[in-house]
Amino acid sequence: MRFVVLLFLYLKLIRNINGANILFIGALASPSHYIWNKVLSTELVRNGHNVTIITHDYDSTKMENYTVITMKGFYEHLENEFPAEKYMLENNVFNFIHQSVDYGAIACTFDFSTEGFKVLMDYPQNFTFDLIIYDITYPVCLYGLIPRFNNPPVIAVTAFLLNPYVSYSFGNPLQTSHIPHYCSKFTNQMNLRERLTNTIYSWADILIYKYISIPRQTAITRAVFGQGMIPPWDEIERNISLLLVNTDPAFDYPMVLAPNIIPVGGLHIKPAKSLPQDFEVIYNKAKGGVIVFSLGTNVKSNILNKNHTDAFLKVFSTLKQVVIWKFETGVLENVPQNVFIRKWLPQNDLIGHSNTKLFITHFGALGTQEAMYHGVPMVGFPVFVDQHVNAAKLAEKKIALYLDYESLTYENIYNTITEVLNNPMYKNNIVKISQRYKNQPLTALERAVFWIEQVLKNGDVHYLNVPTRDMPMYQALNLDVILLITICLVFIYAVVKSVFRCCLYVLRMFKQDKVKEKMM
Ligand SMILES: *[C@@H]1O[C@H](CO)[C@@H](O)[C@H](O)[C@H]1NC(C)=O
Ligand SMILES: *[C@@H]1O[C@H](CO)[C@@H](O)[C@H](O)[C@H]1NC(C)=O
Ligand SMILES: *[C@@H]1O[C@H](CO)[C@@H](O)[C@H](O)[C@H]1NC(C)=O
Ligand SMILES: *[C@@H]1O[C@H](CO)[C@@H](O)[C@H](O)[C@H]1NC(C)=O
Ligand SMILES: *[C@@H]1O[C@H](CO)[C@@H](O)[C@H](O)[C@H]1NC(C)=O
Repeated sequence: MRFVVLLFLYLKLIRNINGANILFIGALASPSHYIWNKVLSTELVRNGHNVTIITHDYDSTKMENYTVITMKGFYEHLENEFPAEKYMLENNVFNFIHQSVDYGAIACTFDFSTEGFKVLMDYPQNFTFDLIIYDITYPVCLYGLIPRFNNPPVIAVTAFLLNPYVSYSFGNPLQTSHIPHYCSKFTNQMNLRERLTNTIYSWADILIYKYISIPRQTAITRAVFGQGMIPPWDEIERNISLLLVNTDPAFDYPMVLAPNIIPVGGLHIKPAKSLPQDFEVIYNKAKGGVIVFSLGTNVKSNILNKNHTDAFLKVFSTLKQVVIWKFETGVLENVPQNVFIRKWLPQNDLIGHSNTKLFITHFGALGTQEAMYHGVPMVGFPVFVDQHVNAAKLAEKKIALYLDYESLTYENIYNTITEVLNNPMYKNNIVKISQRYKNQPLTALERAVFWIEQVLKNGDVHYLNVPTRDMPMYQALNLDVILLITICLVFIYAVVKSVFRCCLYVLRMFKQDKVKEKMM
């Protein structure tokens, strides 16, 4: 009897949140973000919800209650408007930030012209979503869909790290003294010059975003939705309930997080599955272990020129390990016996295989998280955006070695690879990280779903907000207090100085009088 009552209560409880109708807005065009967003959305579907995701990626997956609306043609469009060479290997942070403003405008203009966008806009005016999930990484013009669907609760997610603007807009302290900017090459141990640079980068990022990029995006959005339809940006933004961010204390530097920011780092990672036949055969023959070499979905193998590929192949020919290399652009010549080239890899399953010794990577966030999860040390070379700061972090944790793109020579590659293969420190350190990550009461994916359902159940979770989220910038940073203290100090200094001068003057007068007296 009691069981039946409990079951009834349980069903009643889940019915409240079950079958929610969710719109997932994948605003950033990036295949890796789509992978991450898809893992989260399909898990919500498995929990009984109906998810409609609008994205730039093609996906032919057929799954009940999972609808993909593609804003088709963006990647091709980008190649013409904003070629990869323009931002890959870009080492100047200000150039990068400046380019991202242009990129935002290009992306917004494009999105609004797509069929996919029109499909969503043609939904009946009274169609309701119970929740909108927004990939807040960049850009934000699709915020326009929030008022279009009558302002349901909104949750922000990002497969990126916690960038300064997003951190700031959720009321989180910036911590520029120990959290390196995502375009820098710093670690969390910075000297005075580096901290100064880091602080300037972070604030430049926030100010350019707030005062240049967002107004440009808003203008494009208002032209599409109508001036009156779109409330001020910061109002929409402050109304977002929560942020689910792709970080975890086991993977990342320790940092302070406001309660409305939930770390769900690595939610895309699954335990390794058994390998397809082709790879199983390679692994069975690899007595010395396997090295997996894979750049990501954004960085392709054509980032390497012939000198680079020759150098890698020459190094591989000296190793006792087998190398599986994802090389999707063109054909490699003189491939040694122990190297297998494939256009596609089941990356997570390969990294997760117990016979994998090393992962060669460009230090993209998702791949390096997989390697940490499975406890496989890394070598590689970062190419753009957060990859430098990721590489520096993993080197700081002594679980990876990295080379600059400019220094990819035979000798350097040979030295880094053999050092990480032969020195057990790297493996030992990363296994510890793997254990720490796995030893948590909920997995990242469970935590993400839990918080999404909290918002579905309770609507308002603004009790999690730190008051700084609603304060003007000068108050949140206590700039007025600092100014007041400075004025006081200057005043006190002035008073003390004039009193001192006065005393000195009196003393001197007195002395002179005495001298005069003596002379007389
Ligand atoms: C899809 O949603 C409907 C309505 O909410 C529900 O009845 C059905 O069980 C769901 N299907 C799956 C596979 O979850
Ligand atoms: C589920 O989502 C699809 C696609 O957006 C929509 O057509 C359908 O009406 C939704 N189902 C429910 C029960 O809301
Ligand atoms: C939405 O509006 C249409 C007509 O404008 C109406 O037929 C339909 O029942 C409404 N749907 C809901 C869920 O209110
Ligand atoms: C903020 O969200 C609430 C409900 O979550 C909604 O009623 C309100 O209109 C939203 N305001 C803005 C400015 O988006
Ligand atoms: C490759 O190396 C040769 C010899 O060191 C050099 O002359 C050439 O410029 C290099 N090519 C590229 C594309 O870097």
